[in-house]
Amino acid sequence: MKKFYIKTFGCQMNVNDSEKMAGILRDMGYEKAESPEEADVIIVNTCSVRAKPDNKAFSFIGSLKKIKKKKPETIIAVAGCVPQKEKDSILRFSHVDLVFGTFNFMKLDSLLERAKRERVVEILNSKIPEEDRVPLIDSYLENPYVAYVTVQRGCNRFCTYCIVPFTRGRERSVKPELVVEEVKRLAERGVKEVQLLGQNVDFYNYEGVDFADLLYMVSEVEGIERIRFQTSHPAGFNRKIVKAMKEIEKVCPYVHLPPQSGSNRILERMNRGYTREEYIEKVMMLKGEIPDVALSGDFIVGFPGETEKDFEDTLSLVETCVFDQGFVFEFSPRPFTKAATFKDDVPKEVKNRRLQELQDLIKRQAEEKNRKRLGKVEEVLVEGRSPKGGELSGRTKDNKLVVFDGDEGLIGKFIKVEIVETSPFFLKGKPILEGA
Ligand code: SAM
Ligand code: SF4
Ligand code: F3S
Repeated sequence: MKKFYIKTFGCQMNVNDSEKMAGILRDMGYEKAESPEEADVIIVNTCSVRAKPDNKAFSFIGSLKKIKKKKPETIIAVAGCVPQKEKDSILRFSHVDLVFGTFNFMKLDSLLERAKRERVVEILNSKIPEEDRVPLIDSYLENPYVAYVTVQRGCNRFCTYCIVPFTRGRERSVKPELVVEEVKRLAERGVKEVQLLGQNVDFYNYEGVDFADLLYMVSEVEGIERIRFQTSHPAGFNRKIVKAMKEIEKVCPYVHLPPQSGSNRILERMNRGYTREEYIEKVMMLKGEIPDVALSGDFIVGFPGETEKDFEDTLSLVETCVFDQGFVFEFSPRPFTKAATFKDDVPKEVKNRRLQELQDLIKRQAEEKNRKRLGKVEEVLVEGRSPKGGELSGRTKDNKLVVFDGDEGLIGKFIKVEIVETSPFFLKGKPILEGA
């Protein structure tokens, strides 16, 4: 049997696209390889949101040269956000046979056939009608119980630092009936939790059906017991969504609402479309309605022109809102973006220090919140073995990672776990087994 290996960089959107590509390959009769060396087709699904993932993808692509030399019939493909805007940077690798972008991965079968005969480069720049078919491609699930469902593609917001509108095109919402159909198919295959994905799900709109409406529709699917979603955008997040979260038992109390900065001056330079006051007000509204909600966010430190006072405003926003989780990035100038023309004037060591300080603050908040769970009994969906091996791992409804000892048979089940130890990033538990 022929084998494939997919290496994915970037966000959940890319992970989901890779799962769909794996689904196409499975339909073509391929099976998953454990390493690139044993694969007949290798796909690198790239990300260009910051210089770091971008560089990692390039060094991975470079490392495939020796495989191509040993086994010239191996097809090496590069897909995703890097070739979408910068295909020449990929074409300089002579061992790459196939290059395609974010708009045409669903055509992988015919692209591969062509790549067996010649070098193929196909980067489309706009929506193609087939895209509406995407949700109906049966995906290959990395995790059989928790699945991603992309409900929205692209972005119209053009934050000045961000390359995504250039690599993913204009915002398109997937027809609600197609989303529901995909969720039903996943439920039939045993999936218990779906995570609805979009760059800004709150702006979901398909002929008047908005994101809250979509949540109600998805919640009707039998067999799905948990619904998560991300990313929420502070300018679009609203009371109607919070009401749906409150009314629908299946919707998890977890919101990823990236502030990026707490300084109005910087938010304006970022073109984020909200003020710190508006951000705080929305978080207070959310926490007022759903007190046990977990809040997470992304932050950029060292944005061009960020002063110590601006950074203090970010710290104070975090102090006020209290986060369960935070992803802090140093500003990284990206091609095509407006901020790449701004003077990148915050010295590297200052960016480093701010990153550390902000991470430490969020870590302290998470630690404190997690400590309150000690001795409590939580319901966990058991997802598999923890990455380090050994223990089982799962998540609480509000997305806290819990690790515990237990046997294989618990995977895919909802179980009760007593929390016996806490840390900023995960909880340790002891399963409470029925009849024990
Ligand atoms: N759509 C989401 C939003 O608006 O919050 C996030 C999308 S982006 C794929 C994920 C995160 O990467 C952003 O929230 C931001 O914090 C970070 N990011 C994007 N561009 C960046 C840049 N040029 N430098 C540093 N971080 C960046
Ligand atoms: Fe990028 Fe801004 Fe769009 Fe998010 S909203 S994907 S940060 S342009
Ligand atoms: Fe990266 Fe593209 Fe996602 S740039 S973060 S993989 S949309």
